[in-house]
Amino acid sequence: MSDKKTLFSAVQPSGIPTIGNYVGAINNFVKLQDEYNCIYSIADLHCLTVRQDPASLRKATQELLALYIACGVDPEKCIMFVQSHVPQHAELTWILNTMTYPGELNRMTQFKDKSRSHADNVNMGLMDYPVLMASDILLYNTAVVPVGADQKQHIELTRDLAIRFNGRYSDTFVVPEPIFPKHGAKIMSLADPTKKMSKSDENVNAFVSMYDDTDTVIRKFKRAVTDSDTKIYFDPENKPGISNLLTIYSVFSGVSVEDAVKEFEGKGYGDFKIKVGEAVAEGLKPISEKRNSLLKDKAYLDSIMLKGAESAYKIARKTLSKVYRKVGLYSPER
Ligand code: TYM
Repeated sequence: MSDKKTLFSAVQPSGIPTIGNYVGAINNFVKLQDEYNCIYSIADLHCLTVRQDPASLRKATQELLALYIACGVDPEKCIMFVQSHVPQHAELTWILNTMTYPGELNRMTQFKDKSRSHADNVNMGLMDYPVLMASDILLYNTAVVPVGADQKQHIELTRDLAIRFNGRYSDTFVVPEPIFPKHGAKIMSLADPTKKMSKSDENVNAFVSMYDDTDTVIRKFKRAVTDSDTKIYFDPENKPGISNLLTIYSVFSGVSVEDAVKEFEGKGYGDFKIKVGEAVAEGLKPISEKRNSLLKDKAYLDSIMLKGAESAYKIARKTLSKVYRKVGLYSPER
């Protein structure tokens, strides 16, 4: 690895990623890959915190790797690996668990939300989710973590744990900084623009999936909830629906939000929504094509996964040995 700083991020292979995951995270993975040593994980252990169908989880894991590559993450430049293939993630979680207080995890917004939406399965893993995430990040001497706004609290906990460990056992972990996209750190639901767009939304019209075809994308944007006003301008507080569409349009068309506002001045909502849908569909088409062709070559995807796990393991093993030694775990001479 070069002397560039390290960047780490991950996406859960639960369900089909949405354009929210793309705008908030994966698009930045691609943009930042020359500036940093990038490590991108597929967070399959995190998925187990809610009930999964085992066969679907396995399939989604492979598909997510194909999606990373199809979006432009370069396997020659970046490490891509599956979280469960590197055992140190679970091992460091145990150590960090002994330094994390229930009150810190109880107050996490995501834990509260998911406890409500999965009330029949509020398990220890769901509560411990942010500690596993801290382990993911801290194992790799990570300086920066590109994520969407919903992960802010988890990154803050990661920082707190790194500082706490360093304070107790001397300097060990790099204290990471989050990187949020300039626009689109929180893409909102198309059905209710005051709510985050989420792949687990029961209403399929609330999100656009990365695998939706052109007709579906355009239909979903045509139905997007806006407001009763007729003007198109950027004001997330008072016009959340229109502002969300402007943000999405800007990311997919490459036009700035300001220029998009000028472009649609005097136009009706109907035309505007179709234009946004077309821009997104056009952006997704080559990604879908590349992804489909990658999925035909499972051996290639497996080889990237194996290579990634090997590279990640080398770094993770070093960090964990250091941690074990610092906390006082005995290691016999060989
Ligand atoms: P996940 O799979 O829920 O989300 C993956 C990434 O997508 C971002 N995101 C969004 N961004 C903008 N608008 C939205 N509507 C939207 N929905 C999701 C998320 O912020 C995230 O960046 N816990 C992580 C996965 C993870 C991780 C890590 C991330 C596990 N370990 C270590 C960074 C570092 C998550 O929520 O995944």
